Amino acid sequence: MKAGIGQPLSLLLKACPLVDHLSLYDVVNTPGVTADLSHISSVAKIDGFLPADDGMKKAFTGADIVVIPAGIPRKPGMTRDDLFKINAGIVQGLIEGVANYCPDAYVLVISNPVNSTVPIAAEVLTKAGKFNPKKLFGVTTLDVVRAETFVQAITGTKDPAQTVIPVIGGHSGETIVPLFSQAKPSVDIPKEKLDDLTKRVQFGGDEVVKAKDGAGSATLSMAYAGYRFAERVMQAAKGKSGVVESTFVYLPGVDGGDAIAKETGCQYFSVPVELGPQGAVKAHNIVGSANEYEKGLLQACYDGLKGNIEKGIDFVKNPP
Ligand code: NAD
Ligand code: LMR
Repeated sequence: MKAGIGQPLSLLLKACPLVDHLSLYDVVNTPGVTADLSHISSVAKIDGFLPADDGMKKAFTGADIVVIPAGIPRKPGMTRDDLFKINAGIVQGLIEGVANYCPDAYVLVISNPVNSTVPIAAEVLTKAGKFNPKKLFGVTTLDVVRAETFVQAITGTKDPAQTVIPVIGGHSGETIVPLFSQAKPSVDIPKEKLDDLTKRVQFGGDEVVKAKDGAGSATLSMAYAGYRFAERVMQAAKGKSGVVESTFVYLPGVDGGDAIAKETGCQYFSVPVELGPQGAVKAHNIVGSANEYEKGLLQACYDGLKGNIEKGIDFVKNPP
């Protein structure tokens, strides 16, 4: 396990009182990371596995939630779609493991390109007869976290996370659509600042990739975002009501999703989703509430997103 997202995310999960057992799986370094984390005096029991000796089977069996941040990250000049060639197969292999060893688990996909890896996951699970759309999520929380953070420069609120901003669509460039008009409490963004703010959310990942200068993409902010989403899923699973978070789901499989699929022409889309004890309870149709400026952004989102989704589905249906 490299330093990437996996290590800081594992640290947060090891310290989380909602986690009773943390099982790590990677093709390298898992024993060292596991030994290190095992000295933390939190309730979560921990173990870690490499592929040898049925490691995946041991890691996945009995899991309630599988969080997947496996795969290569971007370097400057790359798009997320450039990662498809390598990451598609990695995600496919891990989801086959889910289908075999923990088919009832929640699956949280972080690996890029999320717009394609989530359809890949759905297709693999469908092929195995194990697809539960209410439990498969593409993690787009980092876009929400960025929107909350970047808008603070305008609102000046003390705690940025108190402003809820839906970010919908997909997870790459123009497919990321922040709906500042739907912020709660409402935010007043001067017209001349809206373009820059929107672009900063859409291309926040590129900002980090550029700053890291060849050493990868967002890892610490992603670990925070991944933890936040996993925590919300666990809270809802344990009965907390009113848990809503934007996430990339298979719309026809979630209540309320059909209308959004019809309106957007996309089978997969990130929208605010209410979570409950069995996973996704309801997809909130916020698309129709977008203002004219945001409707323009949505038009640009649809085409790119549909292509990314098709590419993922095709990878499983018609293997290269
Ligand atoms: P990294 O290279 O630091 O870590 C990836 C890890 O995956 C490595 O430890 C590697 O050994 C492991 N791995 C490779 N093949 C594997 C396999 N078959 N089984 C298990 N583990 C395997 O990369 P990172 O910075 O942690 O990023 C990981 C992925 O997350 C990238 O695809 C990146 O683009 C994506 N990402 C997504 C978001 C998001 O918002 N969804 C944000 C940041 C990064
Ligand atoms: C991000 O949004 O930071 C991630 O998707 C990583 C990347 O490639 O930008």
